[in-house]
Amino acid sequence: MNKLYELKTRLLAVATLVAITSYQCRAQDLDVPYVPTPHDVVEAMLDVTNVGPGDYVIDLGSGDGRIVIAAAGKGAVGHGIDLNPVRVSEAIENARKAGVDDRVVFLEGDLFEADISNATVITMYLLSSVNLKLRPVLLEVLKPGTRIVSHAFSMGDWEADEHLRVDNRHVYYWVIPADLRGQWEWQTNGRQFSMNVSQEFQKIELDINAGNQSVTVSDPLLKGERVTFTASERGGRTYVFNGRVDGRTITGTAHVRSGNSQSVETWTATLRRR
Ligand SMILES: C[S@@+](CC[C@H](N)C(=O)[O-])C[C@H]1O[C@@H](n2cnc3c(N)ncnc32)[C@H](O)[C@@H]1O
Repeated sequence: MNKLYELKTRLLAVATLVAITSYQCRAQDLDVPYVPTPHDVVEAMLDVTNVGPGDYVIDLGSGDGRIVIAAAGKGAVGHGIDLNPVRVSEAIENARKAGVDDRVVFLEGDLFEADISNATVITMYLLSSVNLKLRPVLLEVLKPGTRIVSHAFSMGDWEADEHLRVDNRHVYYWVIPADLRGQWEWQTNGRQFSMNVSQEFQKIELDINAGNQSVTVSDPLLKGERVTFTASERGGRTYVFNGRVDGRTITGTAHVRSGNSQSVETWTATLRRR
């Protein structure tokens, strides 16, 4: 009996040691230590991204789950990923206490291996170096129009669409831009247009010809999948183009103004080459 008891005790000690060692190894793998975002900063992050019903929110490195739980309180659905199982258990318990455990899930895993392609909103509180490592993945995998918000850390030379200060903390907000690079063509008001676009992140430069004449471009803006700009011909005719980029097509409207006349036309542009 004593021997059996001794064996059981030894087995328990070995199992505990294995569990502690494996936890410590995983903790060492963390790219970022655990520091929670203050609740008022969480609110500001969800406000700037305008999170609400219909959104799918993913927090990369979700800690105690507070961001995804707050997003669920605003009607969103989502999940958090954290490499630390202790944090994951805390987050699951916090979701239960907040009464949103039917809308959120917390997974143990590496944020660099997670499938984030279905998110409409990505939230993060990581580090500059981790943000920079994630940047190409975000731009490659996320759909145009997906919103990203980061507490404290920016994304290098990808300038934020908005930058807030909340209680002396930084909050950065971006929208994944559509890929507009290349040569586009369309017809408006009987004119043949061609447009060359160069692009760096959300910043675009447009070079446009109407017929054989170059036109002056003003106020070019790419926000997610929406593009808008004004093109003015030398003779005084002005066009305001506004549309949605979907792969190799842009569809929207063109306002045409000439002297006292004005009209609205459907605008469809096609990508000829990248
Ligand atoms: C600064 S905390 C942010 C927690 C939470 N997002 C918040 O804002 O309150 C960073 C979290 O990322 C987790 N983490 C670090 N490296 C990770 C990785 N490679 N994959 C997933 N989670 C990671 C840590 O365990 C920690 O909980």
